[in-house]
Amino acid sequence: MEKRKIVIAANWKMNTNLDEAVELASEMLFELSEIDSVETILCPPFISLQKLKELFTDTRIKLGAQNVFYEEKGAFTGEISALMLHDLCQYVIIGHSERRQYFCETDEIVQKKLASAVNLGIKPIFCVGENLEQYQSEQTEEVIITQLTRGLSGLKLPDILIAYEPIWAIGTGQAASAVEANEVASLIRRTFGELFGLDAAGVLPVLYGGSVNADNIAEYVSKTDIDGALVGGASLKSSQFVSIIKRVA
Ligand code: G3P
Repeated sequence: MEKRKIVIAANWKMNTNLDEAVELASEMLFELSEIDSVETILCPPFISLQKLKELFTDTRIKLGAQNVFYEEKGAFTGEISALMLHDLCQYVIIGHSERRQYFCETDEIVQKKLASAVNLGIKPIFCVGENLEQYQSEQTEEVIITQLTRGLSGLKLPDILIAYEPIWAIGTGQAASAVEANEVASLIRRTFGELFGLDAAGVLPVLYGGSVNADNIAEYVSKTDIDGALVGGASLKSSQFVSIIKRVA
């Protein structure tokens, strides 16, 4: 089977104003413009998407949004739809644990968001992951299968990436071991295969997220089922994010 391309995505979360985003993105672009072997995706806050789109025109760097609402338009004050995003970015993060935790996003809401993004041709980076208590009581497998099957229900062979982000590893410096992360990545690939077939599972990009840095990235991508990373904290410093990409390029 063809080797899947490594994907490194930056989730800037609720950080950077417009000027800071342009500055950070410009520094990254300067360092990364020649790198073709890694699919590099930056997910800044909504307010910077248009400017970064202009900055990245005719470059290899792709853009993603950090969220999307599931209706296309109408009386939904404060929301942004896939219809508004599809000409601004190629990717969108959906189902991140911070949205599940702070904004009450259920698997059903996540499913609607995934369907809406896929319909408009935006590739979701669909996040799944267990919390510390679930991890400690060995419920990881059950949680991941539930999140996957509910989130993906009703979708037809979606063009999608899946990120395994154990909540206990996010922003804590306690990254999951590469072996553990790979076991869950394999489970994700198997479950996807049961839903959409082996061929689709074989080309599915599965990322790991949770305290990824330049020192641990190589070990993750050396594993059979991990194709890259979704990076939070370390993507807010150009030098750190660039080093992560250069380690795997
Ligand atoms: O979406 C990426 C994220 O949740 C991981 O954050 O800071 O642990 O790399 P961090």
